[in-house]
Formats: sequence, structure tokens, C-alpha cells
Amino acid sequence: MQNLSSTPALNLVTRPRRVRTTAAMRRLSAQTSLEPRNLIQVLFVRDGISEPQPIVSMPGQFQHTLESLVSEVQKAIDAGIACVDLFGVPREEDKDETGSVAWAEDGILNRGLRVLREKFGDQIVIMADTCLDEFTTHGHCGPLTQDEWGNEVVDNDRAVEAYCAMAISQAKAGAHTVSPSGMMDGQVGAIRDALDEAGYTDVSIMAYSAKYASAFFGPFRDAVGSTFKGDRKTYQQDPSQRREALLEAQLDIEEGADFVMVKPAMAYLDIVRELAEVSPVPVAAYQVSGEYAMIEAAAEKGWIDRERIVLESLMGIRRAGADMILTYYATEVAQWLNRSVR
Ligand code: PBG
Repeated sequence: MQNLSSTPALNLVTRPRRVRTTAAMRRLSAQTSLEPRNLIQVLFVRDGISEPQPIVSMPGQFQHTLESLVSEVQKAIDAGIACVDLFGVPREEDKDETGSVAWAEDGILNRGLRVLREKFGDQIVIMADTCLDEFTTHGHCGPLTQDEWGNEVVDNDRAVEAYCAMAISQAKAGAHTVSPSGMMDGQVGAIRDALDEAGYTDVSIMAYSAKYASAFFGPFRDAVGSTFKGDRKTYQQDPSQRREALLEAQLDIEEGADFVMVKPAMAYLDIVRELAEVSPVPVAAYQVSGEYAMIEAAAEKGWIDRERIVLESLMGIRRAGADMILTYYATEVAQWLNRSVR
């Protein structure tokens, strides 16, 4: 460019850069926002420990004691987070073939929920994970059976029965929301009926509608102390599928889902967008353990700018259409957002 005189070199009517000229201008014209209330903090509570245990493949995340769980939730509330999602990690000796400690009143997840509800009441939405894989010896999301050819398969209908018992016990323990994540057919409708019959008509359901059989769940196995070796391809969706996600979400909504979810998030943003276009209920996306671990590992090596990458990854999920994001970063990001210019 040799000519910087007052006559523009190009005769352009539209110069899109005008709305990017200053920080205030960019804030004014921002199309998508990321706010603490959009973020759901995922937390783990573990039985039989006296100190929080670091999760090796998820640096910065812990399996909590009941005490450290309470302080994490207090931090989340102080940062403006609107919901926490709780997973339970039982003692090894309490696991069995059916995962029955999942619906025991004194099972670790129910104890965690009860402590939170008693301490925090309705200050924050307390959501429970409603699935059996953390509680079964074999690590599948439901009890196993043999089909007529002798293959070991997860028994859909018995799994759903167990989820119903689990959901009722969670509602009783104080969960505002239950979240069936096992991808069994009919799970949302059966849970809705069971909750209603037990008098919990106000307890809501976040349906894991489009959950894919994903390698991005890898580090989660560490987080819940799972020795699970197989795969979940007979119940979670195949990564090639788009249509199926719509079918699953439609069924869940017909069955009474109050929220639908896509999981994982980053590799499935097209699915988030598709559901966001048509869903009559709020859409959530779950930034899973593998997404967290990849960011942490690269940041630890100094190869990426951790804070900017985290914010950009979450903004991308919001822009794809997610109303809310389950993420291990929730409270930390809310703290960043609170300190930046408003
Ligand atoms: C299973 C469950 C999984 C996750 C949440 N619930 C693992 C799986 O389906 O294999 C993964 C969460 C994560 O990776 O962050 N009910």
C-alpha cells in the first residue's frame, strides 16, 4: 500500500471491520454471550476417602469428600453458577452386578445430594447423574444379560427399572433435576412416570438425548475409578449419525424431557445446532473429560493460551446453539467472566 491519502484506495460501501474497531464496539456488536448462568459445574463425590483425590488425567479436578464438595458448591454459587451436576464414586466393595448402591439411601451419590440440598436449598440447581456405570462391577450402564445367541448385552428394560428407583432416591435426597445418561430406550418416559407416581412432579429431567459412543470420555473412567474395558456401541450413538440425534431428542421430549443434551460437545457442534433449531426445550451440551484433558495437556506444555482456548471453546458451543454447557471449567470461567469488563 503506497497511498495512505484521504482518498480510499477501494471504493467499498460495506467495510465489515467497522464493527471491530474498538473493544467497546466489539462488545456492543457481540452476537453470542457467555455468562456464568450458562455454565453447569460437574463434580465428583467419592465414598471412603478423607481427603480430596486428584484425578490424574484431569489435572485440577478432584474426587471430593462431602466436605470439599460443599466448599466447591459454595464457590460455584459465589461465582454465579446456576447448576451443579453430581456424579458418585462408590467404594469398590459396594459395587455389584446391578449397581444397587446407586439407589441406596445411604449410597454416596444420595448422601452428596442430601448434604447439598440441606446446606444450599434452592440457591443452586442440584442435578444428579442417573446412571449405573459407576456402581456396577462390570462398568456397563445397566445389568447384563445373554441374548438367545449367547452374547452378553445390556438389558434395556431392567436398566430402565433401576434408573427409576435411582431417580426416586435422588429426588428424595434433594435433587432438583435428574439426568439419565445411559442411553436406554424409554428411560425418560419411565422416569417421568416413576417420579410423578412418587409425588415428585416438580423434579425435572435433563435427558442425555444424543450421547455418542465416544473416545472423548476416556479420562472420565479415571474420574470415577472405572476399570471398564469394552465399549458402549450397542447403546450410545454411532459418530456417523445425524438423523438419529433428532429421533432421540424427539422421543425424549415426547416422554417429558425438560432439557435435551448433546454429548460430547466439540466434535458434535453440528448436532448441537440441529437440535437448537428445532427443540422446544432448552438445549445443553457437555464439554467432556477428553475435551478438558486435551486443553490441559497442551496448556501444560505451553503450546496454547489456556484461558483464551477455554473461553473460545465455550463460546463455540454457545454459538452452535447450546443454552447451557456442562463443563469442568464452569466455576473457574465464571470467576474470569466476573472479573472482566462488564
Ligand atoms: C456414563 C457417563 C460417562 C460420562 C458421563 N456419564 C461415560 C461413558 O458414557 O462412557 C462421561 C463424561 C465425561 O467424559 O466427561 N453414564
